[in-house]
Amino acid sequence: MTRNLRRALPLTTLLISLSPFCWSQSSLHPESWGKLDGKDVSLYTLKNSSGMEVKITNYGGTITYISVPDRQKKFGNVALGFDSLAGYRDKVNTGYFGATIGRYANRIGHGTFTLDGHAYHIPTNEGVNTLHGGTKGFDKVVWDAKDVSKAHAPALELHYLSPDGEQGFPGNLNATVRFMLTEKNELRIDYRATTDKDTVLNLTNHSYFNLSGPASGTILDDQLMIAADKYTPVDKGLIPTGALDAVAGTPFDFQKLTAIGSRIKDNNSQLKIANGYDQNFVLTHPGLSTVAVKVVDPKSGRVMELFTDQPGVQFYTGNFLNGTVHGVGGTYNFRSALALETQHFPDSPNHSNFPSAELKAGQEFHSTTIYHFSTE
Ligand code: GLA
Repeated sequence: MTRNLRRALPLTTLLISLSPFCWSQSSLHPESWGKLDGKDVSLYTLKNSSGMEVKITNYGGTITYISVPDRQKKFGNVALGFDSLAGYRDKVNTGYFGATIGRYANRIGHGTFTLDGHAYHIPTNEGVNTLHGGTKGFDKVVWDAKDVSKAHAPALELHYLSPDGEQGFPGNLNATVRFMLTEKNELRIDYRATTDKDTVLNLTNHSYFNLSGPASGTILDDQLMIAADKYTPVDKGLIPTGALDAVAGTPFDFQKLTAIGSRIKDNNSQLKIANGYDQNFVLTHPGLSTVAVKVVDPKSGRVMELFTDQPGVQFYTGNFLNGTVHGVGGTYNFRSALALETQHFPDSPNHSNFPSAELKAGQEFHSTTIYHFSTE
C-alpha cells in the first residue's frame, strides 16, 4: 500500500460511513409548514436544470406554485395558491386550489351510488350532491411524503391510506401520487391505488392556471384546444344528465384553438347553468401520445399542453371565483383562472353508459397526466 493510499483510507471510510446520511437527505429542500393531525406538513420544491420550479405540499397533495419562463425567458408563477398552511386551511371547501382530489373527483348525484348490489352514501357538501370526495376529501388530509428523485428528475411521492368506510366509500384504499419534473419542462403526475374491497375511484389534480400569473386578469383571451368531440351536459345541480352530446356547432367545440371568451356569453343553456364553462369533455383519443388540451396565452407567450390516459377532462373557467379569496399574486376574481381536471366522468357510478370508475379488490389503478410547458 503506498503512503498516499494509506492516508486516503480513513477519509474514504469516513465518506462511506457518512454517505447513507447524505443520501437520505431530501433534494427537495422541504420547508416546514407546521403540524396537522399529528403529522408534519412541509413544502417541497422540485427544480430542473433550466430553472422550472414546482412546489407541492403534502397537505392535500397540493401544488402551490409552478414557475415557468415566458417568451422573454422571464420566469413566473402560473398556479393559484397560498404560501402557508393557514392559507389552505382557511379556504376549506371553497376552491380546492392545486389539490389532489379523491376519492371521487367532481360530483356524485345525491351522494349515493350502488355497487355490487349495495347502496353507499357519501356526505353531501354541495346542496344535495357530493363534490370532490365529500366533507373531508383527499384535499384535506396530510399525506406521507417521500423524496423519490432520480438524476435529472426531481420527484415527490405522496401516500395516503384511506380506511374502509372513510367518507362512506368501501375498501381500504392505498393511494399514491407521484409528482415528477422532467428536463423537458413537464410535470408528470402518476396516480396509483389498490383496494381490498370493490370501490369507485376518480383521482385528479385541481390546479388553477393563469399563464400570465395569478390575479393578472381573466383567462378569456387565452386560446384553448380540447381534443374532444363530445361532452357530458349537466342538469341544474351540475350533475351529468347521462347524455354524450356532440360539440360540433356549439360553444363547446374547442377542437381547434379558440379564444375561451369568444362564445362564453352565447345564449346556450349549458353555459347559463354553469355561469361559464364547467363541463366534462369526452376525449376523442385518450392516451399519453396525443395532446388532450392546449392552452396558449397570447400575452406571455406561455403554452401548456396536457396529456392524459383518463377518458375525460373537466374544463372550468373559475366561475365560482368572486374576489373574496386573496392568494399569492393578489385577489382571485371571476374567471381569473382556468382548471383542467383530467378524470373519469362526473357521477359515473350512476351512469352505466359512462366508462366505469370501478376499482376491483386486488386490482391496481394506475393513471398518468402530464403538463408540458413551452412558449411561442
Ligand atoms: C370543479 C367543479 C366546479 C367547482 C370547482 C371547485 O371544477 O366542476 O363546479 O366546484 O371544482 O370550485
